[in-house]
Amino acid sequence: MPKDAVTVADLMEMKSRGEKISALTAYDYPSGRLIDEAGIDIALVGDSLGRVVLGYDNELQVTMEDMIRHTAAVARAVKRAMVVADMPFMSFQVSVEEAVRNAGRLVAEGGAHAVKVEGAHAAKAISRIVTCGIPVIGHLGFTPQSIHALGLRVQGRDEAGAVRIKDEASALQDAGVCAVVLELIPAQLAAEITLSLTVPTIGIGAGPDCDGQVLVAHDILNMYDRLKPSFAKQYADIWTATLEAFKNYNADVKSGVFPVRKKPME
Ligand code: KIV
Repeated sequence: MPKDAVTVADLMEMKSRGEKISALTAYDYPSGRLIDEAGIDIALVGDSLGRVVLGYDNELQVTMEDMIRHTAAVARAVKRAMVVADMPFMSFQVSVEEAVRNAGRLVAEGGAHAVKVEGAHAAKAISRIVTCGIPVIGHLGFTPQSIHALGLRVQGRDEAGAVRIKDEASALQDAGVCAVVLELIPAQLAAEITLSLTVPTIGIGAGPDCDGQVLVAHDILNMYDRLKPSFAKQYADIWTATLEAFKNYNADVKSGVFPVRKKPME
């Protein structure tokens, strides 16, 4: 492991000295390289892979094989960032044994340094995975694998919902997670949870007071045209630039402008 590789201890230290943790999704070798060169702390191989790369309608069709293949590509690229792989739908819910086996596969075959598990119902499985030496990041609030139960909406707006998410965060910390992703919850609730936990919180659509932030790379690059979360900031327009380049290439091939005919050697 390289000397400057980001570890669980680093995440804890960053929280305690108030340094924000940066995380971004990566799904392949080039995005892993770019995340590392940009100095981002966590490369998250999210199951958003299903939507933004594989063209599925949602996260539910993503398989262990998808996650292992894409995590391995990212892990081959990354030297410094912590590579975190999402445990896909139904890879950890059926039994603790299956959860441990699948977490182990993401580490052994995919090269992940940690796994991310959605929801608090899997606390038992999380605690077993942690016991096996695999760091786990929890994920609360809006959890995409429960889209049919939750709908795509802000969670924890009412008192009962807020109390439930706070309780879940503390249960996850007790189960041994090294960080908690808080997705689509009110900023005030995220701030309260952040203050109450010793492990870092990483927000997405959860306001500025979390210990870190994560976004889907395709959202900040405008590389996905079907869902544009209002909380994501766009830093580049790769879709438009790529479309322009593809159109120019197409026109050049059709018209014979490319390739250029070389003059015969004299
Ligand atoms: O799958 C994913 O990209 C995620 C982030 C949105 C946190 O879980």
